Amino acid sequence: MGDAVAVWAVVVAAGSGERLGAEQPKAFVAFGEDPLVAASVAALDEHPAIDGIVLVVPEGWEERATFMCDEIGAGKVAVAVPGGASRSDSVALGVAEVPDAAALILVHDAARPNLPADLVDRVLAGFADGADGVVPGLPVADTVKRVDGAGRITETLPRAELRAVQTPQGFRADVLRRALAADDRASGTDCASLVERLGGDVRVVAGDPRCLKVTTRADLERALELRGDG
Ligand code: CTP
Ligand code: MG
Repeated sequence: MGDAVAVWAVVVAAGSGERLGAEQPKAFVAFGEDPLVAASVAALDEHPAIDGIVLVVPEGWEERATFMCDEIGAGKVAVAVPGGASRSDSVALGVAEVPDAAALILVHDAARPNLPADLVDRVLAGFADGADGVVPGLPVADTVKRVDGAGRITETLPRAELRAVQTPQGFRADVLRRALAADDRASGTDCASLVERLGGDVRVVAGDPRCLKVTTRADLERALELRGDG
């Protein structure tokens, strides 16, 4: 992307982290010296292509989030706002804070603390030939089956065609804003699916195994091990 294109990031950190089962929201559990969310915020803050960051946190955690950003010197964070009931609601509340000047918006899960700079580079480079959205994805190692309510297999999906997608997911700002305006946005488990429903052209670029999502305690340990690798 040329230098003239303004790129903002929305980091969604407003989930409760039920499956992790910590006392505090998942984004604020310790990850090394700092809260989990600090790692990806710092990576985005340090990335030269990112112009500004909006942080979306659980209601009541806004001040702590702002303090944390000061502590880690993340000067690109414009604001920390409370999220909503679903991930899509939280994304929409964050995107509403992104200035109109932003041409591209990257949406990133705070639950993915290890965010390599070259992953951001690949997502941004994916826009070169006019895509509406670019998402990182990894090949799927397991064979994936479709099953019915009785647990009977109805289909074996061709594995070569499958990708497990990650964040950051990048979108043209106008397309993402339109996709998030959908009444049924909460049913989308990622932003790409909302853009796909509009018929948007969303591409997959190579993801990074280090950028795993922390869901359970074991994931948290694995993410710490992978931290700073490569
Ligand atoms: N998220 C959010 N607002 C919500 C739900 C999720 O901002 N209402 C964010 C989470 O903070 C996380 C990302 O979306 O960074 C991915 O969600 P997930 O891993 O499911 O996190 P939680 O919803 O917090 O975890 P759980 O589902 O175990 O409660
Ligand atoms: Mg969740």
